[in-house]
Amino acid sequence: MTPTDTLEYAENVISRSDLSATVKNWQQQHGRHNLPWQLARDPYHVLVSEIMLQQTQVATVIPYFERWLESLPTVTTLAAASEDQIMALWQGLGYYSRARNLHRAAREVCASYNGKIPDCPAELRKIPGIGPYTAGAITAFAYDKSAALVDGNIARLFCRLFGIAEPLPASATSKLLWRLAEYYTPAHDNRIYAQGLLDLGATLCKPRQPDCPRCPLQANCVAFRTGRTAELPLKKARRALPQRHGNFLLSINETGLLLEQRPAGGIWPRLWSLPELTETAAESFKLDGEFKHTFSHYKLQAKVWCAVTSEAEAPYATATCRRIPLAQLSNYGLPAPIATYLQPYLTVHLQKAANGT
Ligand code: ADE
Repeated sequence: MTPTDTLEYAENVISRSDLSATVKNWQQQHGRHNLPWQLARDPYHVLVSEIMLQQTQVATVIPYFERWLESLPTVTTLAAASEDQIMALWQGLGYYSRARNLHRAAREVCASYNGKIPDCPAELRKIPGIGPYTAGAITAFAYDKSAALVDGNIARLFCRLFGIAEPLPASATSKLLWRLAEYYTPAHDNRIYAQGLLDLGATLCKPRQPDCPRCPLQANCVAFRTGRTAELPLKKARRALPQRHGNFLLSINETGLLLEQRPAGGIWPRLWSLPELTETAAESFKLDGEFKHTFSHYKLQAKVWCAVTSEAEAPYATATCRRIPLAQLSNYGLPAPIATYLQPYLTVHLQKAANGT
């Protein structure tokens, strides 16, 4: 199909004017209006929330977003913040490269745009860490200007509405979805339309068991009319992830917890983690416990070891390690699975400290 054929076909499924009118109308009656980043319509709030919302659910993001704004209320305060402060605020949200991108974006906005976040996708895309979706979202939500956006929710909704039986994610499918998104973006009230698409995708056109009876697009939806809502969007077959093993040292004493700042490359770059041990070194320690974690490219099966005597762990307290008082741990960014593993120890130690025992 040529691009013209595609748009003619799409227009037969639902006209431009019908799609924008239906989505806007539905958003105003049933969509979400009180999310914390919607209230001030501040471009900085939109930037922070959109980066946090990548790969993370709204309910998880809300407390992080609120805490972030209390500490870093403007793009200028973010640009001037230290990486450790940013990582501590981001701790637990995962995908830490997002936090670093956000930091870099704020510095670029201050250095090249006089602290004002641009209002068009072409300019926004020049900023590190701002991809096509985020550029469209900032233009729509912060400035109410016309710009297309496609995220996972909108991709799913469009695949079903137009009966697109091409696998996701795939670059040809993504091109097609962006072409459709651009065609259907309204000239006015794009803030309501874009929020309506996201809200429909998140609340009705869900990955499993979509709520078709409540969907305002049901009569047009090709997947609904052909009984293929469960099948669409098609997913690319995922290859099984390889398994890797890791060994970590747990050392807590009255001075604090031994942490090591990880190198800039590899997993958890520059976060503060339990020092990593080689397989051979681990053999001279006592097994404390295990945890598993899935990264995008492999599964980690981790063992945590502790020393029987303090001398045994001395060689592993290297230059990149620091013993951190437990009460100060919240100032350090720890990888989420390490923080989860440590939680019971910290509770016990902090309790003991409070009781003076
Ligand atoms: N996901 C990404 N952006 C969003 C927004 N503005 N509202 C709700 N969910 C979102």
